[in-house]
Amino acid sequence: MSLPSKETVLVVGATGNIGVSAVKAVLQTGRHVLAVVRNEASATKLFYHVGTTEGITTVLADLSSESGVKNIVEQVKAGKLPAFQHVYAAAGGGYSATPLQDIGTEELRQIMTVNFESNFWTYRATIPYLLHQNDPRSTWTLCTGSQGDLGARAPPALTQGALFSLANVACRDNYKTNVRFNEVYLALRVEVDESAAKTGAMKATDFAKCYAALLSSPEIRSSRVSVLSYDDLEILKYQTKVKL
Ligand SMILES: NC(=O)c1ccc[n+]([C@@H]2O[C@H](COP(=O)([O-])OP(=O)(O)OC[C@H]3O[C@@H](n4cnc5c(N)ncnc54)[C@H](OP(=O)(O)O)[C@@H]3O)[C@@H](O)[C@H]2O)c1
Repeated sequence: MSLPSKETVLVVGATGNIGVSAVKAVLQTGRHVLAVVRNEASATKLFYHVGTTEGITTVLADLSSESGVKNIVEQVKAGKLPAFQHVYAAAGGGYSATPLQDIGTEELRQIMTVNFESNFWTYRATIPYLLHQNDPRSTWTLCTGSQGDLGARAPPALTQGALFSLANVACRDNYKTNVRFNEVYLALRVEVDESAAKTGAMKATDFAKCYAALLSSPEIRSSRVSVLSYDDLEILKYQTKVKL
């Protein structure tokens, strides 16, 4: 099998705090980015926060539709977009503080769609493609948050619970495949650099070290990589989720 020399990472939620961090990591490791963006304004925001357009191909999709990423994979298969070997999923951002008993049905469905379904649909659309490509370098990374354990904000907590379970299943399902699936569990607030400088959150540039290290760590598979402090960014703390 001839493998493409330059690897490409499909970044979903690329224009957000975590997505910008992932894009920075991908570029630092000499790979190419296929960035999913909502519209041209979001693409401009991405280039502004990353500081370059070099090495980044953007493609439009609505992540709140199950056909969003599926259409991208179809375009890749048709040769209209670069083939990708890796996926980084950080769609979401819904972070309201509505008390549990006050969450209306509409808000529940909306937050499940934005924070959970978007990532699930990304998984469902991309995994068959990666398995079929059978590239041994393939990875799939999902960013989750400690809000799912803390429960301090009900809507994001509910969706993180669903994402934890998605990661558990995907870790098992891909343990023996060519796709190195991992969950990055983040217990800190990360923001794009400009905003982090004002709020004291971790900068996207710093968090990028974690994904860069994960891409270069073939021994880490079917694991939860925990980022609880700045010390966890380069020497990754991880635990396999699979007990076969
Ligand atoms: N930031 C943190 O500290 C943190 C901590 C723990 C876990 N996480 C995890 O990371 C996820 C993302 O967090 P974040 O801080 O990066 O959020 P964010 O800055 O709000 O980014 C969310 C991303 O999803 C995209 N998006 C949402 N709805 C979309 C739609 N309908 N169509 C296309 N794109 C859509 C946004 O696009 P636009 O830019 O166009 O809005 C953006 O790229 C969270 O939901 C959570 O699971 C984050």
